[in-house]
Amino acid sequence: MKEKSPYLDQNNILHLPRSIMVILCGASGSGKSSFAAQHFPETYVVSSDRCRALVCDDMRSQTVNREAFELVNHIARLRMALGCTTIIDSTALQEFARQSLLHLAHYYSYPTLLLVFDVSEEVCAARDAARIDPPPVGREVVALQFELFRELLAKVTNEGFGTVIVLKSEQINQVRVQLEENHR
Ligand code: UTP
Ligand code: MG
Repeated sequence: MKEKSPYLDQNNILHLPRSIMVILCGASGSGKSSFAAQHFPETYVVSSDRCRALVCDDMRSQTVNREAFELVNHIARLRMALGCTTIIDSTALQEFARQSLLHLAHYYSYPTLLLVFDVSEEVCAARDAARIDPPPVGREVVALQFELFRELLAKVTNEGFGTVIVLKSEQINQVRVQLEENHR
């Protein structure tokens, strides 16, 4: 899907205004955190892995999902209350996770951009298997994520996001981001 978007121009420049919530979405290994590190100041990015680590020292622990997402939502809420651009780095593959972020953004009257990383299962699995830090989530988890990912592609434009941009593998590395900075 290559949608006409108010943010992404024909030269693959993503123009982001201040005070927007951008939700990165895709399976493990699709490149969300790499993209975030390349394009955004570290403090703009609210990462579920980082929040897991902050509450239990293990960024991959699946036993602290509730606590980690409480922290993700809490930080996002504080940032939006201050008018700061907020980038959410999590898989966002479960509808309830996307809906809770959407709900939060609406409360603060933030526009929302769901940035979907459409990378093949084979590539994600290979990248996942090759990584050391954070450690791999494993082939089975990636396969489950892809079941959710296929569901997502089928319905995501009807979920209420202001804008949905699906980036194909080859496009992801071509994107450049032009950010309106937060006030200091
Ligand atoms: P990321 O760590 O960026 O993936 O890349 P992710 O989507 O955030 O994954 P989760 O959801 O947190 O698990 C995963 C691996 O793939 C490499 C990165 O260097 C990292 O080792 N990678 C990423 C590439 O080789 N090429 C890319 O274009 C992007
Ligand atoms: Mg990541």
